[in-house]
Amino acid sequence: MTPLRTLALLFAAAALGALCTAWLFYARTPPPRADGPRIVDFALLDAEGDYHRLSAEGHAKAIIFYSHGLGCPVVRNSLSSLETLRDRYHEAGVSFFLLNANPQDDRAALKAEAKLLGIDIPILKDESQLVMEGLGVTRTGEAILIDPATWTVRYRGPIDDRVGFEGERPRATREYLKDAIEALLDGDPIAASAPAGAGCLIAGLADAKAGPVSYEGDVVPVLRAKCASCHRPGGGAPWVMDRYETVKGWSAMIREVIMNRRMPPWHADPEIGVFSPDPSLTVEEKRTLVHWINAGAPHSSETDPLLADPPKGDTGWPLGEPDAVIDLPTQRLPAQGVLPYRWLKIAAPVDRDVWVRAAHLQPSDAGLMHHGFVFVQYPERLKSEEPEWLEGRNGFFTAYVPGFSATPFPDGSGQLLPAGATLVFQLHYVTVGHPRTDRPRLGLYFHDQPPSREYAVASAANMRIRIPPRAPDHLEQAEVLLKEDVTLHAFYPHMHYRGSHFRYEARYPDGRVEVLLSVAHYSFSWQTVYRLATPKALPKGTRIAVEAGFDNSDRNPLNPDPSKEVRWGLKDYDEMLVGYLMYTRDRSVDAALAIGDPGARTARP
Ligand code: HEC
Repeated sequence: MTPLRTLALLFAAAALGALCTAWLFYARTPPPRADGPRIVDFALLDAEGDYHRLSAEGHAKAIIFYSHGLGCPVVRNSLSSLETLRDRYHEAGVSFFLLNANPQDDRAALKAEAKLLGIDIPILKDESQLVMEGLGVTRTGEAILIDPATWTVRYRGPIDDRVGFEGERPRATREYLKDAIEALLDGDPIAASAPAGAGCLIAGLADAKAGPVSYEGDVVPVLRAKCASCHRPGGGAPWVMDRYETVKGWSAMIREVIMNRRMPPWHADPEIGVFSPDPSLTVEEKRTLVHWINAGAPHSSETDPLLADPPKGDTGWPLGEPDAVIDLPTQRLPAQGVLPYRWLKIAAPVDRDVWVRAAHLQPSDAGLMHHGFVFVQYPERLKSEEPEWLEGRNGFFTAYVPGFSATPFPDGSGQLLPAGATLVFQLHYVTVGHPRTDRPRLGLYFHDQPPSREYAVASAANMRIRIPPRAPDHLEQAEVLLKEDVTLHAFYPHMHYRGSHFRYEARYPDGRVEVLLSVAHYSFSWQTVYRLATPKALPKGTRIAVEAGFDNSDRNPLNPDPSKEVRWGLKDYDEMLVGYLMYTRDRSVDAALAIGDPGARTARP
């Protein structure tokens, strides 16, 4: 036989072998075992934009995911059976989710389908397909039963034998999923799986295999663009992405924090609003990093672009030499523990009224300051009505948040800093295992001439919140009326440990309603300011309404005390509901409004 023929035969045999294996796989999946690999924790948004995280279902007795796809007859005709099971086992502590990884199904279409069919099981959208890929699912119509006691898959296969491509039986003769749930609840062994692959193949999972990912060409550019603003010296993150070996060492952890959406720290629903900076990863970037890590984080070449040009820290004042600097007293931090916010009051270093064009709060050690805010308190002579809840703080001035560089106030606008004003600092520090000190400073940059636009901060706040004990998703609202035309630049939602989601909506004078920002998963740990990529003009008479969700249940791991009814208070273990809005306004319209217009600045409860 010629070598060519031998090769051709070998190839044919291999192809046949592959086909057989594929056929066998679809015909009978080996039964999943309780000692199989643990499911990697993940977090996804559902069709409604609500956040779900697998590990938050740890209280459940069993978790069911059903791989979903629009237009697949098997799925559509099986959903009623799944709902019957949900109704039956919900009380017993079984959680049900639909999981959609079809590239052709967007969230709006999923929402429409749920409405049409009256489905109220959350439909999680797996845009990157990484969750489905991790579960090894290639078809819709497959149920996956997870045992939260071991975080392993205990059953995979169809719900029952009622529905197939060729038609439907009046009723099922085998109820595989139900039997598996009962067995798990009773602590009995789960029978071997049923025939797999009942539904439709999912494009991207069933066919294309991801190509090789290059460390230099694909991975490093993502790390630089989306991570290095913090994972650099003085950037606030605890380790620096300075070379291949470091990144490889962290690679398993990088995959975990991408899958459970902890990193980059960004909590806005990506389908609502466009923000800048926005460090969140695109679907393609997530796939690049996770596929590279799954392939063993390879790097073949001698050169390491990270080592050659590691991300650098800021030195000095990136906005130039300030016109005035306040050196804050040295902050001494213990080795360990959760530190309460520190409040400092310092007289503004000005002997005349000035308009500030930029303010830059800078820790000396960015690994320690979690965030810092500066508020301005006007002197008696300029105080009009000062709302009570602000307790003397009536003007949000500037913020330090790790990873977000100092920027001047937008569009050449300014904030008045009158002689005799006081600057109020709210500093939040973390501890790092040994005692440390920080010497923060504030640089102020002045306008030569009063600017035509004033930068101001309004807030929709609700001081009458009352969160019942153990309520898992208690909703509260607040609203603020804009008394003049403004240009909106940024949002800063603020709650405490029980805050779970937050949404801003513009209600225009003509009756239109527009969602401006939806923080699907609020985290007190990250005091993020969301800046609009394109500032938004809002007409006078617009109401900005905010809705906040609070989780006062014992399933909220940060909840200081689920048995307590919680009200408004400035302490961490009380709650707040403030939706700050950073905007600019035309000073020429009514100079008297420039400061101290509580109607526009703050919501009156
Ligand atoms: C806005 C700043 C910021 C950005 C951007 C950022 N990180 Fe982080 N990262 C942090 C901080 C701060 C911590 C420490 C978190 C803590 O102490 O809870 C951290 C911790 C981590 C950890 C350790 C595990 C953990 O959760 O503590 C990993 C892994 C990580 N980041 C990966 C990434 C990757 C990958 C990116 C980019 C895709 C990224 N980070 C982007 C600030 C950031």
